[in-house]
Amino acid sequence: SGSDRAEELLGRMTLEEKAGQLNMISALPEDDPKAAEVRDEIAAGRVGSLFNVHGADAARAAQEAAGRSRLGVPLLLAFDAIHGYRTIFPTPLGQAASWDMELIRRAERVTATEAAADGVNVIFAPMLDVTRDARWGRAVEGPGESPWLAARIAEARVKGLEGDDLAAPDATAACAKHLGANGAVEGGRDYTAPDLSRRGLRETYLPPFHAAVEAGAHCMMAAFNAPDGLPTVANAWLLTDVLRREWGFEGPALSDFSAVRELVVHGFARDAEDAAAQAFAAGADVDMQSKAFVRSLPDLVRAGVVPENALDAAVRRVLRLKEALGLFDDPSRGARPGRAEATLFRPEHRAVAQELAEKSAVLLKNDGGVLPFRRDVRKVALIGPIGDSPADTLGPWAGRGEPSETVTLRQGLAQVLGDAVQLSFAAGGAAEASSDADIAAAVEAAHGADAVVLALGERFNQSGEGASRASLDLPGDQAKLARAVLALGKPAVAVVFAGRPLVLTELAAQAPAILYAWQPGSMGGLALARLIMGEVSPTGRLPMTFPRTVGQVPIHHEQRPTGRPATLPPEPYTAGYGDESHEPLYPFGFGLGYTSFSFGAPRLDRDVLRDGETVTAQVEVTNTGARAGETVAQLYLRPRVARVAPPLRQLRGHQRVALAPGESRTVTFSIRAEDFAYWLSDDRFAATAGPVEVMTGPDAADVRTAVFDYRPLRDAELSSGG
Ligand code: IFM
Repeated sequence: SGSDRAEELLGRMTLEEKAGQLNMISALPEDDPKAAEVRDEIAAGRVGSLFNVHGADAARAAQEAAGRSRLGVPLLLAFDAIHGYRTIFPTPLGQAASWDMELIRRAERVTATEAAADGVNVIFAPMLDVTRDARWGRAVEGPGESPWLAARIAEARVKGLEGDDLAAPDATAACAKHLGANGAVEGGRDYTAPDLSRRGLRETYLPPFHAAVEAGAHCMMAAFNAPDGLPTVANAWLLTDVLRREWGFEGPALSDFSAVRELVVHGFARDAEDAAAQAFAAGADVDMQSKAFVRSLPDLVRAGVVPENALDAAVRRVLRLKEALGLFDDPSRGARPGRAEATLFRPEHRAVAQELAEKSAVLLKNDGGVLPFRRDVRKVALIGPIGDSPADTLGPWAGRGEPSETVTLRQGLAQVLGDAVQLSFAAGGAAEASSDADIAAAVEAAHGADAVVLALGERFNQSGEGASRASLDLPGDQAKLARAVLALGKPAVAVVFAGRPLVLTELAAQAPAILYAWQPGSMGGLALARLIMGEVSPTGRLPMTFPRTVGQVPIHHEQRPTGRPATLPPEPYTAGYGDESHEPLYPFGFGLGYTSFSFGAPRLDRDVLRDGETVTAQVEVTNTGARAGETVAQLYLRPRVARVAPPLRQLRGHQRVALAPGESRTVTFSIRAEDFAYWLSDDRFAATAGPVEVMTGPDAADVRTAVFDYRPLRDAELSSGG
């Protein structure tokens, strides 16, 4: 069997070959002078995994080099397909705004199918870093601020990437990342970490990783940062006690890029050998790019510092993953250029990308129903630096996405408006700066139009790894551009492209409509044009709270109350600001459509919940507008009394409801003790006796409440949740 194969290989390996299996390095392009060196290292059995391989030919060549090594062990070939491989979907934060897990799963199926056709067998995703700081550049790659929503996204993405059978030629292993609290940054800066409590880890940051493991993720990557002063890659409690013992994770745990060597820079290890010894002892199996494991582990074993059976256990995890992927039978798993050509960017893949882009956009404002634009518009002016920019439509870290294949908003509008409508375009300068002449030309273009689309926002490289911002304003002179164009008073929508929540306070005071596009990917421009013209209705909901000013950050729906809750308007001695509201501009879960909905109060089927029982909450949702539409009914919970001051609300359920005009439907949520459990100081999740608030509505700020009493015989001890 395959398992015998892994054991048999392990039994024949030298210490050097074992350490080689734990060495992961980046591939180099063929024209790089050092590309041959990488191939020689592989053929010498000193490399177990490679990442950044581009294309089926390169993948086959790498596997052939591995085939020439003494034992011929195939390589794990990994790739950062963050939001698609060749067909690019909205950014992960944008996808989170769809609140549509089945669609997210389908998108990841496409990603896996495309990547596998190119010889990739491990995807460095899903990125599951809960974040409450919009300044952090990597907010764009993540699931947003809710641990619960993030956990649902984790399940959907892992299942999509891995499919039903990891050995299938269209399946890839999901490498969930970055285990720990990579999103818990300080001042929004990348790689930093605050002094984080175990409760913070358990309740906020770990749940999506636990969900990924439960969903079957075969690989895990440790975070770069050092919450509580402990670099994650050397955190034995997290990598071994929690990940392996408590959660039962069996796959390899990877370091992030050169994170093992960076233990020296952290001031945590004396030198690379010390770093290797510490990271390995803590539970890291694979060293990405440091080469510290491959260089040091054999000597560390010979010196008796690292037990050989621990080395064997790590190698076994790598070999078992290779085996599960079917690499021992066919190292390239059928990948070849012809198959890739026939697979990448297929029309049915683009259809998923379009649907997801349509469902990710969030309508934040629509005064007077200015959107959708009337079908009888004859002249539309598209204004703004992102209006015809393929790279900024794709977003950061866009895999093998091709800007030339990307539908910009200009192209999308041209297609949807057709020949009968005149579409003019003025960039109004660059995203970073506009001259007075640029702005004057934009105003001129808008002047003669019946309707104006402003395409504003961030460049693709203003978010992503290492791309944090201290400001959340529209970059450059875009606020000035928007002000000048909107002063014309035309029917107008501001379409905002960004990798994070931006501060839209001024724009919201001026623009009649705002459609938040995130970075919508390959089909983004068409999706947005269809939304603007009413071919489809917006249904996206915010996965992060939008602040009024950067000074409110971090701001999120799970904040705890304090003994002096903030009040409006600010009074002395409260948790509010003296110079600003404490309320967000747009709350978590918020989003409009082209119709309106009313939500009844939640009706509970019981007043008292006892051990093992379920409370059912029913909410009547009615489409009170004139068009068909979809809304997302949301459930939030809060124990009113607990042994730890509980957050004001925590998302614990959501359901999409599609209704015809005038139609009503009752949405049902089931609530069990584990849904309002929290991390008790004695190191366990528990739900404790007392009243529990059930809040339902269209977003975190617009809820109606019912209460039941939880009366267990004793605290329900629950191991789930973190
Ligand atoms: O997968 C990534 C990770 O998210 C950040 N550092 C580099 C890795 C490999 O590219």
